[in-house]
Amino acid sequence: MTTDDQLTFRQFLLREHRNHGTPKDLIFLLEDIATACRTISHKIRSGAFAGTLGATEDTNVQGETQKQLDVIANDQFMLHCANCSRVAALVSEELDNVVWLKDQAKAGDYIIYFDPLDGSSNLELNISVGSIFSIVELQEDLTELNDEAVLIAGTEQICAGYSLYGPSTSLVVTTGHGVNGFTHLNGTGEFLLTFPDMQVPAQTQEYAINSSRQKYWEAPVQRYVEECLVGVDGPRGKRFNMRWVASMVAEVHRILTRGGVFLYPRDSENAPMGGRLRLLYEANPMGFIIEQAGGKASVGGGRILEVDPTELHQRVPVILGSSEEVDLLDRYHSE
Ligand code: AHG
Ligand code: MN
Ligand code: MN
Repeated sequence: MTTDDQLTFRQFLLREHRNHGTPKDLIFLLEDIATACRTISHKIRSGAFAGTLGATEDTNVQGETQKQLDVIANDQFMLHCANCSRVAALVSEELDNVVWLKDQAKAGDYIIYFDPLDGSSNLELNISVGSIFSIVELQEDLTELNDEAVLIAGTEQICAGYSLYGPSTSLVVTTGHGVNGFTHLNGTGEFLLTFPDMQVPAQTQEYAINSSRQKYWEAPVQRYVEECLVGVDGPRGKRFNMRWVASMVAEVHRILTRGGVFLYPRDSENAPMGGRLRLLYEANPMGFIIEQAGGKASVGGGRILEVDPTELHQRVPVILGSSEEVDLLDRYHSE
């Protein structure tokens, strides 16, 4: 049973079309992405029966072992995103190079970036994982297809979203007019609008960082975490709680729900790679979503969205969440 405010995904998208002129092509594409996510959710939930929770013998371009479901999820995104004739190219964590779907690409065509399965080290543990996507429009006609053409800053995103495969399957989307969260109604093909206009509270008492890397952290991050740990007697004057799921999608969903700050900073070990998380299909979409919900997303002294990409699988430092915490971390980075 649905209530009036629990619009179906299609009803919501048609309302976006009426209110904000969201193009029909984008609506069809988002419905196809929702289908991909629903299918991936099903494949994950049946993975123990199908024997697909474990690794393949392959590594991806990042040198990481691919899980069987990384590949399955990637195939679903490729299959469903190809339906829309306006999609010119696909960029995936699991693909070495850009996949062009057209011989010629023109201004206004879509480029889709995706992390088909985020947090896949959690698969065997039955801990939440997710999918992340970002969509930009090509700025100009391409006389010749070239992979550099997809190196577009996050400020140009027209849409970003993620699906979280947890106790329920969520779909969270922004088209630049706020952030809305949907829940898959089991047994149907429908995602219903269950979390309209999601907002990141400006203040928080919760942070997320992989503390096993502490010996590598830079001084601003050491200082920030130390001050959180001192609690009421320290400069923050309040206690902090800590969480680390090791699935960025789950961390961002928590921050959109009750606030918090997530850090995967540059440190002395990952600095040669530029950081840990990937700009085009992890940091940019999550940065866009967090900003659209009133939070902030920084590399530690500058917006993630303003980073000029130079490589397809480029990594960047990521600090995002409640605005007051991100501002404080930015200040520590500038001092
Ligand atoms: P992926 O599974 O797509 O490679 O991404 C995992 C990422 C991110 O989701 C998470 O925050 C981080 O890696 C976990 O890193 P640690 O292994 O250092 O905890
Ligand atoms: Mn990921
Ligand atoms: Mn992944």
